[in-house]
Amino acid sequence: MTTILITGSHGQLGNEMQQAAKRFPAFNFLYTDVEDLDICDKGALNAFVKANKVDIIVNCAAYTAVDKAEDDVALCYKINSDAVRNIGEVASENGLKVVHVSTDYVFDGTNYMPYMEDQTVCPATVYGKSKLAGEQSLFEACDQAVILRTAWLYSSFGNNFVKTMMKLGTERDSLNVIFDQIGTPTYAADLAETILQVLSHKTFVPGIYHFSDEGVCSWYDFTKSIHRIAGIHCDVHPIETKDYPARTPRPHYSVLNKSKIKSTYDIVIPHWEESLVRCIEILKKSW
Ligand SMILES: NC(=O)c1ccc[n+]([C@@H]2O[C@H](COP(=O)([O-])OP(=O)(O)OC[C@H]3O[C@@H](n4cnc5c(N)ncnc54)[C@H](OP(=O)(O)O)[C@@H]3O)[C@@H](O)[C@H]2O)c1
Repeated sequence: MTTILITGSHGQLGNEMQQAAKRFPAFNFLYTDVEDLDICDKGALNAFVKANKVDIIVNCAAYTAVDKAEDDVALCYKINSDAVRNIGEVASENGLKVVHVSTDYVFDGTNYMPYMEDQTVCPATVYGKSKLAGEQSLFEACDQAVILRTAWLYSSFGNNFVKTMMKLGTERDSLNVIFDQIGTPTYAADLAETILQVLSHKTFVPGIYHFSDEGVCSWYDFTKSIHRIAGIHCDVHPIETKDYPARTPRPHYSVLNKSKIKSTYDIVIPHWEESLVRCIEILKKSW
């Protein structure tokens, strides 16, 4: 039986991997997070994959605090780049495959057409630069790696935009939300399912792939849908990015072109609003 190590399994994606795994009984899964297996510790990683006869590493671990990263540069690079090189080297030395997750933040967001995998990268933040360095480190160390770049991730697990907007929408009469940043919300459950479909495919084709849910919207549209689906009544007003100062620049346009993953791995992707309905159904049970 193929054994898959999931790192960072307590995060949004890591938790969704645990849910999706139930539909893939042909694999044996091992779940770890920083307290059991720190990916910055190459010796521990090497010992773990040997002792547990791991065949594939799916790296869901990351430093994801985009604003905090500006003050926390060394730790951000340690987790998002140096540790990813560790994973690549351990995989290479032990003959394993790797699936790693990266971000739309490797682009500067000035495009007006969905980003292809081979387009010029130009990250504008420490987080984006560290994730790009991680992509490069992984490919330098390992030639059996798939990197999935994703965007606007949310889940019923962890903290994210959907949960924040549900909370604020019930606490306040009105909200201002940015309408001039365009992207695609991605349910982490869909990304988890896609990762396991990639690993179940008859051929493993290494490289970079883009993945988000289908469709396009602004944060304002996303918020309106969250409230409508959740039955929350709140006046949502569209505002411009310049009226909502953030510590770090956010991409104005981060829509990803998903043709490559769809054609290579036969992936069928749901529209973001259908996936949002599924996530909010789960959230409402504990609301
Ligand atoms: N969230 C988004 O909107 C978004 C968008 C595009 C791409 N992505 C990418 O998608 C992937 C999954 O993101 P996510 O939202 O699921 O992240 P997340 O919820 O922040 O989960 C990351 C997990 O990794 C753990 N971790 C941190 N350092 C570690 C270490 N040294 N060793 C082992 N585990 C460690 C974290 O533990 P602690 O919580 O204890 O630190 C956490 O459980 C990441 O690669 C991220 O860069 C995310």
